[in-house]
Amino acid sequence: MGVEEIETYAETYARSLRDPAGFWASEAERVPWFRAPTRMLEQDEQGVWRWFTDGEMNTAYVALDQHVDAGRGDQLALIYDSPVTSTIQRLSFRELRDRTARVAGGLRQLGVEKGDVVVIYMPMIPETVIAMLACARIGAVHSVVFGGFAANELAMRIDDAKPRVILAASCGIEVQRIIPYQPLLNRALEVAEHRPEHVVMFERPQCPVEWLADRDLEWLSWEQASQPVECVSLGATDPLYILYTSGTTGKPKGIVRDHGGHAVALNYSMRAIYGVGPDDVFWAASDVGWVVGHSYIVYGPLFAGCTTLLYEGKPVQTPDAGAFWRVLAEHRVNSFFVAPTAFRAIRKEDPDCTLRKQYDLSSLRYQFVAGERLDPPTYLWLQEQLQVPIIDHWWQTETGWPICANMAGLALLETKAGSCTLPVPGWDLKILDEAGRELGPGEEGAIVVKAPLPPGALPTVWGDHQRYLASYWDDYPGFYQTGDGGYRDEDGYVFVMGRTDDVINVAGHRLSTGRMEEIVAAHEAVAECAVVGRADAEKGQVPLGLVILKNDVKVGGRALRDDLVSAVRQGIGPIANFRESVIVKRLPKTRSGKILRKVIRNMVDGERYQIPSTIDDPEILSELHQELLDQGVIGDK
Ligand code: COA
Ligand code: AMP
Repeated sequence: MGVEEIETYAETYARSLRDPAGFWASEAERVPWFRAPTRMLEQDEQGVWRWFTDGEMNTAYVALDQHVDAGRGDQLALIYDSPVTSTIQRLSFRELRDRTARVAGGLRQLGVEKGDVVVIYMPMIPETVIAMLACARIGAVHSVVFGGFAANELAMRIDDAKPRVILAASCGIEVQRIIPYQPLLNRALEVAEHRPEHVVMFERPQCPVEWLADRDLEWLSWEQASQPVECVSLGATDPLYILYTSGTTGKPKGIVRDHGGHAVALNYSMRAIYGVGPDDVFWAASDVGWVVGHSYIVYGPLFAGCTTLLYEGKPVQTPDAGAFWRVLAEHRVNSFFVAPTAFRAIRKEDPDCTLRKQYDLSSLRYQFVAGERLDPPTYLWLQEQLQVPIIDHWWQTETGWPICANMAGLALLETKAGSCTLPVPGWDLKILDEAGRELGPGEEGAIVVKAPLPPGALPTVWGDHQRYLASYWDDYPGFYQTGDGGYRDEDGYVFVMGRTDDVINVAGHRLSTGRMEEIVAAHEAVAECAVVGRADAEKGQVPLGLVILKNDVKVGGRALRDDLVSAVRQGIGPIANFRESVIVKRLPKTRSGKILRKVIRNMVDGERYQIPSTIDDPEILSELHQELLDQGVIGDK
């Protein structure tokens, strides 16, 4: 790496901003279209910039059929490695295409048409990938719900997305624990107002289904009885999927992704960012329920003709902290992507990484991390353990692919601990202060991106365009607000320091403290509460509840805490990791009554905080500080 790489990067980045339509038109030539676009970039009637508007294509064709048609049908498309069921299964592009075509036919027989929504509530098994691609094949819009969410969260998504059909599996498996999905689904359907017409259940041997004769279809016989169908031709701007993510309020936001821009952007990212191409093995150790799973377990690698790895296991305990090294070696993985929290879990169990020495990791070229801030100690530990570039890159459900990265396939630059390097071509990134003025090197502010966003980024929020505008565009007109804060150094390197809103990141899972507050506040003893993210050495952040009791209530702290833990587990799911709450007398607020969550967050993390001029009663801060000290929440410093 040197001057040449910097010039290559700088020239490409500048070109992408100078002539976005030209830049992406040449990338669009690399994906197969049924009708090639002639209009690259234009604003729709709502003023949203849309890509490739007159192009026609099909995402499942890009992922599967194009490779079969090009004579690569026998190449491996997917390796399913499941230590929790002791299974390894391999599917070629042809096999995956053929099963997808049948499932697509089965959906069509159930009446699913272009534009209909299908909710997928399934774990990390090949049928989940097939379900997503089958929806794409017929133009149905899939919405995958992560298995760690409780029935209520599933119900909210069902009511918002209004699926015609639900595809589900009988269980997920957490190390050795079977998590039956059917009771969760049944409960969600009791709570939800919307009724799907059909439920197709995939019965796993680990957990039998209790069939409801008038509702459920059995997956395998349904798939076998179906006629395979071809890919339909879809508009580039037709929706491919909805993926719900946590926002500031309790109600999840349905992020919409379209077909054309998504395919072009992800295909570009595989080559330019991840440095892989056909026949390479790509592994993202995430879950299909998250955006990383959508983009880099399912779509990106398959678009690029790579073999993708679907891993149903954990970094530790399945069976030990050598699990990742075993998978990397056994399947000759070339590019690996995981959340830092997973490496922190490995480091805790095996600090010297002795288990790694049992495996041959010579196939590995790059180690990518994202999903949360890569803390410098984890970065340095990884650098010591793996003899490949460690690449921190930053992005979000909304963007669908990286905003900042060190681009392995374009020009690898020098890395800096704590930085996700530089903006990826297409993303015109700025750091602004509250008044919308651009900040200089080292000055921390809101990270925003100037419109138009590149292909692949969200064009709207499902069923609520106003929310899209209010959440992302209203604060800084003309700029997309990422919700993250940070700064650039004198070389332009980007340092993402954390969310500026009420979203927290727990073990790589994005969660809303607003939703937790709704649940905590609903407890009969609670008058008012605030939930904030608190720094955690392993999980990055964990939630902490601060609770004010109603006047006449006498309840022990422990009993209340147990109640609240169980309410949040029931309401959101175990992944919320809500384990701690403290009773306090008062919460600091502004004169208009808004709780000063940022100040509380800084206080519980032992950081310096500024007393805002809008504070109602500054004395509450010292009172709260003392209460947190007395209850052992913060140390005495
Ligand atoms: N279905 C059901 N329950 C789930 C689940 C799922 N898919 N995923 C997690 N849970 C449960 C866990 O079993 C645990 O339950 P418990 O409280 O009863 O023990 C709880 O949710 C909390 O899980 P988690 O926060 O993941 O902690 P953990 O200690 O089980 O695992 C890690 C810690 C680091 C190993 C794990 O969080 C991990 O692998 N994280 C990577 C996250 C990731 O890939 N994110 C995607 C963005 S890149
Ligand atoms: P999600 O939408 O679940 O992918 O979560 C996106 C959020 O995770 C971002 O807005 C950031 O707050 C955080 N995030 C993701 N990647 C990084 C990274 N590399 N560095 C810092 N924060 C990150």
